[in-house]
Amino acid sequence: MSELTTAQVLVEALPYIRRFAGRTVVVKYGGNALAGTSDHDALALFAEDIVLMHTVGIRPVVVHGGGPQINEMLARLNIESSFSNGLRVTDAATMEVVQMVLNGQVNPQIVSAINTHGNVAVGLSGEDGRTLQVTPRDPSLGFVGDIEKVRPHVIEGLLHDGFVPVLSTVGVDSHGQPYNVNADTAAGAIAEALGAEKIIYLTDIAGLRSNIDDASSLIQRITVNELSALIENGTVSGGMIPKVESCMQAVRGGVKSAHILDGRIAHVLLLELFTDQGAGTMITGGVS
Ligand code: ARG
Repeated sequence: MSELTTAQVLVEALPYIRRFAGRTVVVKYGGNALAGTSDHDALALFAEDIVLMHTVGIRPVVVHGGGPQINEMLARLNIESSFSNGLRVTDAATMEVVQMVLNGQVNPQIVSAINTHGNVAVGLSGEDGRTLQVTPRDPSLGFVGDIEKVRPHVIEGLLHDGFVPVLSTVGVDSHGQPYNVNADTAAGAIAEALGAEKIIYLTDIAGLRSNIDDASSLIQRITVNELSALIENGTVSGGMIPKVESCMQAVRGGVKSAHILDGRIAHVLLLELFTDQGAGTMITGGVS
């Protein structure tokens, strides 16, 4: 890169650095991003981005699940799952593994990656401070919870003290029973409860496409209304729907923008936040 280009990159970034200073940005980090072997590098790059964001005054909050890691541990422990309508039933033994893996394995892994670049990350689960209060979804699915209420106080306290909260999405019901919660939905609800500037989903797709088979058809910007039209006409479908709906719900709930990014792109968070063009799909309210 020439010196001039380097300078241009910095000039492009500066207004965003100024605009986002002091703002809360929730980042959903996928279990898929952590799963494979080569992904330790991906985690290190992610950690660098989070620390850089923090250094320029942004208040990042990391929210994570860990589906692949839970499946792997269930297999290692020979715990067989039953399924109801294709969905895994979270019985008591499975829930123990969910807690063990999310709170004992995935969460500290992310915390420690961030803390090798700056001692700012603090891990917690949705049970701490009853941050994620849930109600059971459907008794036949066992301990799968839907978010009833987010209590953002512990996260806010950590942010106020300059820490980066890293939250695992284990929720709790009114009796203190832990539940597994969908991490995409939880991340959106947390962003809403925090009055966040942005919710960012790191996924293993390149963002939303207007033609699913055409990589050049990436939708760079879209409004919630335009997006619901794309769901209705089937352009956005399948596994993307829950994520997209969490985005739309967060934006309708006051989060300024939701972003769907490809977590496999190195430093994708910095590219999205600090360039004009960004690197994925940005969803906003109002007109685009
Ligand atoms: N950096 C700006 C922001 O984060 C613009 C990002 C544009 N991104 C996009 N996918 N069109 O608000």
